[in-house]
Amino acid sequence: KRLKDIQSRVLIGTEFPSGFTTMSDSSAFLSTATPEFNLVTAENCMKWDATESSQNNFNFAEGDKLVNWAQTNNYTVHGHTLVWHNQTPGWVQNLSASAMQSAMYNHIDKVMAHYKGKIPIWDVVNEAFEDDGNYRNSFWYRTLGKSYIENAFIRARAADPSVKLIYNDYNLEYTGNKSNAAYNMLKDFKSRNIPVDGIGFQMHLDIQYSIDYNDFARNLQRFADLGLEIYITEMDVRVSSNPTAAELQTQAGYYKNIIEKCMAQPAVKAIQVWGFTDKYSWVPNTFPGRGAALLFDSNYNPKPSYYAMQAALGSS
Ligand code: G3I
Repeated sequence: KRLKDIQSRVLIGTEFPSGFTTMSDSSAFLSTATPEFNLVTAENCMKWDATESSQNNFNFAEGDKLVNWAQTNNYTVHGHTLVWHNQTPGWVQNLSASAMQSAMYNHIDKVMAHYKGKIPIWDVVNEAFEDDGNYRNSFWYRTLGKSYIENAFIRARAADPSVKLIYNDYNLEYTGNKSNAAYNMLKDFKSRNIPVDGIGFQMHLDIQYSIDYNDFARNLQRFADLGLEIYITEMDVRVSSNPTAAELQTQAGYYKNIIEKCMAQPAVKAIQVWGFTDKYSWVPNTFPGRGAALLFDSNYNPKPSYYAMQAALGSS
């Protein structure tokens, strides 16, 4: 069975790169992906530098292509992302505090209004913590302090009350400093009725680093206990660029164990990979010598990781 057809509780997603309909191999790309998933995220084209590269001039052309494709193919769209320190133009970063806050509000208002009724889930704030659990030393934090985070959520709820509002970050899978910090922030938000519906676990993994799957499951549970929905938003598992068969088996084990724990946790609403083919992946550009992190190889053949995901989705 195709990944999306194995169970119905959890949406199964991937990101699509910009220009996904006009690549030299778009037909292979789309014929592989289309039947497997029912959720899609824009890899880059809904980020601030793409949607509002100069102040109050909005460009939704690429994002609209993705949304139209999704509607035609019965996919849900996951919006990524409204407020982030990365891929945000210099004009935002250099504003005074009051002007920056207004620009943030205007961005949230205009982007969410444009996609009203079309994007039911948004990553409102992305990656607000350092790995040590301190608030990330970003231009947002330096200019506005930590209140920019709750203010973004309050604004997003007002912009479209029907949208699921997500806090999304990486390296949250362990119960260490960073996930403790995200947990404490969201617990505080819940206690003060700051509107947040879900936590996004990006899950950019590498087989070089071991993972305690029971700790992961406990971590999911404590976020679920806050009343949050859980979204696996950007999963990939890095191996070496030219992986051995043994590495691919190890990788498959990561997918299997993670997805089994997700299927055992009712708060998990979506499992999404950050690309499905090793041909198009951010990993080799960022981690030289690492790659092959996804479900299909560069020739669109399913890998052991694909079959592991298939099995794990059927596991409960
Ligand atoms: O568009 C320009 C192009 O004009 C230029 O010629 C080219 C030269 O470098 O760069 C192009 O921009 C690149 C952009 O992707 C679009 O392809 C940037 O350099 C490159 O840095 C950027 O990388 C993206 C990365 O986010 C940047 O933060 C990756 O594609 C994207 O997969 C990655 O995704 C992030 C999530 O949004 C958040 N979580 C982590 C995840 C992985 O880093």
